[in-house]
Amino acid sequence: MSSSKPGPQPGRIDQTNVSRSFDVHARNYDKLVNANPGYHEHLRMSAKRMGIGGDGAGLRLLDLGCGTGASTAALLDAAPQADITAVDASVEMLAQARRKTWPAHVRFVHGNAEELERVVTGPYDGIMAAYLLRNLTDRNAALRSFRKLLKPGAPLALHEYSVADSARSRAVWTAVCWGVIIPMGRIRTGSADLYRYLWRSVLDFDGVEALTTRMHATGFDDVRVQTVPGWQQHIVHTFLGRSPGVPPTADDPDAPTPPEGIDLTKD
Ligand SMILES: C[S@@+](CC[C@H](N)C(=O)[O-])C[C@H]1O[C@@H](n2cnc3c(N)ncnc32)[C@H](O)[C@@H]1O
Repeated sequence: MSSSKPGPQPGRIDQTNVSRSFDVHARNYDKLVNANPGYHEHLRMSAKRMGIGGDGAGLRLLDLGCGTGASTAALLDAAPQADITAVDASVEMLAQARRKTWPAHVRFVHGNAEELERVVTGPYDGIMAAYLLRNLTDRNAALRSFRKLLKPGAPLALHEYSVADSARSRAVWTAVCWGVIIPMGRIRTGSADLYRYLWRSVLDFDGVEALTTRMHATGFDDVRVQTVPGWQQHIVHTFLGRSPGVPPTADDPDAPTPPEGIDLTKD
């Protein structure tokens, strides 16, 4: 008698194989996100909310799950002189990112955000992870490893869909996915698998309360949440936290400024 252990169904995308699926969809990724109103603006908002000091000169920043570089561009906009390391597990997404024009202080690295010790060396002055955490298998371990890479008091910004706490947000998300994102993905790429995974994984992901609790539990201080405008209001959020410790003093010219006014509004 064979023992049947539940596991991923063949052909079904889940957190164990999602990067391979991004490989397949990489060539069309930018076309799809460019058609999403506010996508780039919201990433820039999250990067700015990190409160990185000045123009970022002398600072080291990490963009985890950088994809084709949209979040990297947002970090660069917030800190134009910072050294930015952008990491992704999908070779093809990275290839798309590298085709763009970047200053010499931005570099792209192939690697798994769940094995960062093999990929990068800290400490960093800030980490951004846009639309990444939901795709990881052990989110708590990943968050702990992000925290360990940060200097004392340095910010983490998780830019993520989070709808579980609001019936309205779940309904809008489902309507946008099945009315726009999934059909558009099918038309552009011939396959809607990644976009059905997107819909399902967001519904299954932490609500605002669960994710803020998770951030506290994995050692982050000063955890705050702010949403974005547009159809994504109360659907996409910036989750900010800081590694414990004293941030650089205010008279330090490189000191990060406090994040802008943060609301913890939920509907
Ligand atoms: C939705 S895309 C977001 C890309 C980019 N941050 C943006 O905002 O447009 C998610 C990215 O996370 C990457 N990813 C998923 N799991 C990963 C992992 N374990 N380690 C590193 N990257 C991962 C995927 O390959 C994909 O490029």
